[in-house]
Parts: sequence; C-alpha cells; structure tokens
Amino acid sequence: MDNDLQAKDRQYLWHPYTQMHDYASRDLLCIERAEGLFLYDRAGRPYYDTISSWWCIVHGHNHPTIMAAIRSQLARLDQVLLAGVTHEPAILLAEKLVQLTPPPLTKVFYSDNGSTACEIAVKMSIQYWRQSGHPERTKMVALTRGYHGDTIGTMSLGGVPEFHQAFSGMLFESYRLPSPYCYRCPAGQHPASCGCECLAAYEALLAAHGHEIAALIVEPLIQAAGGMIIYPASYLARLAAMTQAHGIHLILDEVATGFGRTGTMFALEQAGVSPDFLCLSKGLTGGCLPMAATLTTEEIYQAFYGDYAAGRTFFHGHTFTGNPIAAAAALGSLRVFAEERVLAGLPDKIAHLRRCLARFADLPWVGEVRQLGLIAALELVKDKEGKTPFAAEERVGWPIYLEGLKQGIVLRPLGNVVYLWLPLSVTMEAIDEITGRMWQVAGDPANFPGVVC
Ligand SMILES: Cc1ncc(COP(=O)(O)O)c(C=O)c1O
Repeated sequence: MDNDLQAKDRQYLWHPYTQMHDYASRDLLCIERAEGLFLYDRAGRPYYDTISSWWCIVHGHNHPTIMAAIRSQLARLDQVLLAGVTHEPAILLAEKLVQLTPPPLTKVFYSDNGSTACEIAVKMSIQYWRQSGHPERTKMVALTRGYHGDTIGTMSLGGVPEFHQAFSGMLFESYRLPSPYCYRCPAGQHPASCGCECLAAYEALLAAHGHEIAALIVEPLIQAAGGMIIYPASYLARLAAMTQAHGIHLILDEVATGFGRTGTMFALEQAGVSPDFLCLSKGLTGGCLPMAATLTTEEIYQAFYGDYAAGRTFFHGHTFTGNPIAAAAALGSLRVFAEERVLAGLPDKIAHLRRCLARFADLPWVGEVRQLGLIAALELVKDKEGKTPFAAEERVGWPIYLEGLKQGIVLRPLGNVVYLWLPLSVTMEAIDEITGRMWQVAGDPANFPGVVC
C-alpha cells in the first residue's frame, strides 16, 4: 500500500522547493494525520512539527475551536465571489483585523497567499501614485536577503538570488538596500556599537531618487527565507521614519511574522511603526487554510474611490479572495487568541526557549544562535573565528534534515541555517524535547565534517 503510494507520488507529483532527484530511491515523509504539535506518518509515528508546516500553524494542528468554525461554515456557504458580493465571515474578519492592527490601517483587501498579499500592496501603491498626481513614483525599494514570494512581481523584490536568479531577465528593476545582517554586518559594526550605519545607503538613495520611489517593502524584524536574519527594532523604526519622511509608502510584509510568532501579535508593535500597507497570510487562518489580507489606509482607499468613469477602480482579484470557509477559520483562530489568552503565555515560553538554546552557542560549527519570539536559528559555519560559511555544494542542511526525521522532528534548514519556527501552543516540556532532539542532530560532529575546531 505504502510502496504503491510512494510510486504514484514519484509518477505524478512535483513537490515545491524540492529536488525530486533526492527522492529517486528514497521515500518522502508521508503524513497521514496531525494533532496539536505533531504530524503522524502512515505507520503512526509522531514528528514534532518544529517548523509549523512552513511557518503557518499557530495553535497546533486541528485546534477544536478552528475545526468547529470550519464545520459550521461548511454547512452554510462554501464559496462565493467577493466582487460586488459579500458575506458575514469576510465582513467580521475585516472588522477584527482592523481592530487588531494600528491606525491608520482601516481597509482590508483579501487574497489567498502571501505572494499575492504583497503583490497587491505593490500594485495599489503604484496605482495610488498614478491617480494622485505623482505618476513619477514608479520605483520600489527592497532589501537584500528579503523574500516576498515567488510570483514575478514579488521575485522582482526578492533578495535571495539562489531562488530567483534563473528569472533575472524578466524581473522589473527595483532598488536594493543592504541586509541588516548583524552577524555579517555590511557596515563592519558590532551589535554593541551599532548605530544602524547600514542605513547610510538608504539616505544616499533617498537624496538621489526619493521623488521617484513609490514604496519600500520589508519583512519586519526578521528576514525569514533569506536566512532567519534577525535585526534590531531600532533599525525598523529608523527605516520606517526615513521612508515616511519622504512620503514613500511603507509596506510591511508580516506574512511570516504575523499572529504572535515573534512574541507580539504583529512584529511591527516592537518597533512602534505603522505602515501604509500590511501584508498578512500564513497564520491568518491559524495555518489550516489558504488566505491572505492586505490592509491599507483610508487615504489610499479614497484615491481609488469615485465614479466608475473616472477609471480609478482597482482591477485585481483572485477567484478564492475572501473564501468564507477560510474566513471562518481565521475568525476561529482569533477566538483562540482571545479565549486562551495565547499572547500572555508567550513570554515564559520564549524565555525557556532562550535557556534551552544557550548550549548550542558553544558548538564549534555554530557561528551564531539567534532568537525572536518562538523563532530560533543556528547559523552553521566551517570556521567560527573567520565565520566561513559552508559552500552551497556541501549541502550541510541535508543530513540534518534526514537525521532530524530519525529523531522525530522536522528540521528543514535554509542553506546553512538550522531553525525552529514553533507553534504558539508549544509547551515548556515540548521545548525541552524539541531542543533536546535538535541537539542530537545539530550537536553531532559527524554531521559537520571539515569544521575547524
Ligand atoms: C515574508 C514572506 N512573504 C511572502 C511569502 C510568500 O507567501 P506564500 O508562500 O504564501 O506565497 C512568504 C513565504 O514564505 C514569506 O515568508
């Protein structure tokens, strides 16, 4: 039976971000069911979902409140277009999202994944300037090592060449700022002496081209897919202030950081910033169904509002925009936040994770241990002193992934970075277990040949 399924997988399926050749003679992990913190394979073996199924699971799998919300919605309305039609879950969720996010965000535009949430913000910004008397504002600014999705538009703003260089010829031009990669500081500073010197490049860009820039897009506090690069809130506050002082739209991409993962409902709270666009997805439904939202301000909304003949309409929409079942799941997830006082429970868990991570810092192949809320990352190096990275061809993450599975944890390193992206429902005991199992893998010298000790 299992052999049959694996053979059919090989015959018919093409998996995302996966070199299928790796599975020419090795079976894929085949998940049968999930509950709470665990995924179970077809033999019933549990695996801690240590990366929250690509960073989206918030309250653990199959949370009863969310499942009940979905079942109740299923009995009433499965899907309906949102163009000129509305429904209760979409309305109530929009109200809740506006209440949860800082002013002046007042309007919610739905879509169905993180890439589209960001692409919508970019399109709205460009069209806003075009119909607000500033058609010259057509350029975008993004950060090196930033990641906003895999559509052509979001790839154009991506800063992870490993993912997108094959398409470089067809991407639109945009400005890039240095990554605030403190461990490998582009300005040669150390955290203790840092005055955000890396922002000098932005100052120069604004002086030369500020007038033609429509928006800046950034992942607040952590460049996730770019290597779990965690940077100070002070950098984000300065970046936001510089952007908004030049009248440029600030797009915060909280697709990954939203909904508690960093210790606050949204990462922007830690820097006290308020964007012109806020992009949400992944954890919006608690992670169980696809949905996304782009929030924006009344001022931007008003630039699109008017008589049809004025040609101000935003011609953008996806078939499943605001799907009622997904919206009901999102309302269910927000109910869990309130009923279980989820955010209030986070500081103890975050502090415990910090304690459990400390021993990793002494390993000769761990250059840096980083943590933001329930996200933890180990940057692996060949030589701690010189911070020499492992070469991509050495593929240091692959044995770690395979060994992790043997230990019953799903570690899916990003290049040289092994990370945890824990559900908010993780317990103290589970943090002990997960970091203990990670130690069996990341603490084993056999997985790091050639390291200078
Ligand atoms: C910060 C950020 N933005 C956008 C995306 C794209 O989201 P999706 O994969 O749902 O298109 C991701 C996905 O990892 C992300 O981390």
